[in-house]
Amino acid sequence: MSAEPRRRSIAVAITGASGAIYATRTMAALLERGCHLEVIVSDYGRRLLRDELGETAAFDKLLPYLVSKYGPSVEAGTYTVHSNKDLGAKLASGSQDCEGMVVVPCSMKTLAGIAHGLSRTLVERAADVMLKERRNLIIVPRETPMSLPQLRNMVLCAEAGAHMMPAMPAFYQMPKTLDDLSDFMAGKILGALGFSHELYPSWGS
Ligand SMILES: Cc1cc2nc3c(=O)[nH]c(=O)nc-3n(C[C@H](O)[C@H](O)[C@H](O)COP(=O)(O)O)c2cc1C
Repeated sequence: MSAEPRRRSIAVAITGASGAIYATRTMAALLERGCHLEVIVSDYGRRLLRDELGETAAFDKLLPYLVSKYGPSVEAGTYTVHSNKDLGAKLASGSQDCEGMVVVPCSMKTLAGIAHGLSRTLVERAADVMLKERRNLIIVPRETPMSLPQLRNMVLCAEAGAHMMPAMPAFYQMPKTLDDLSDFMAGKILGALGFSHELYPSWGS
């Protein structure tokens, strides 16, 4: 009897920067690929989900929201939710088995915490674990304009090994909707995690 293939396990953190749609699109794309997601949402991340996507996207209704928006294929994956205050969660330890982590969108506050290794919340601690264990950490910051400390914090994270992937969707693929823009960012994130995808047309296609 053949053993069931192990699901790829990815941590997804949603913080209080604008761009909640990037988080939902990324979660849906990973779930569609059968991943197991370890999800952490900060208090302001929860607020932004509701403020930007509406009451139906409130965090406690997120799976039905993802199914209604992106289709039943998201049910191929699974996810577990963690409190951002729970520094005893599995994700806070180097022995956890997530191969990578995405912070999408990433606020300047959480960016600063990761850049300086503060580990005050589970998002910051899990990101710190990814860096110390030399695993894939993708940070999707969103702010404009940016202060010098914010820019320096991005450099610190990049120097520590994170992929810095600012929420800067391109326009060469002629986007017509907000979904086209979020597909682009989710595609970039999936690419950095080593997934093939057709979330946006490749250059020249
Ligand atoms: C509507 C709204 C939009 C916000 N947009 C951003 C943003 O784009 N970038 C950012 O760095 N902070 C933004 N903030 C501020 C953060 O939410 C705030 O600094 C918060 O403390 C971040 O905490 P967290 O990183 O734990 O989620 C926004 C706040 C609100 C209420």
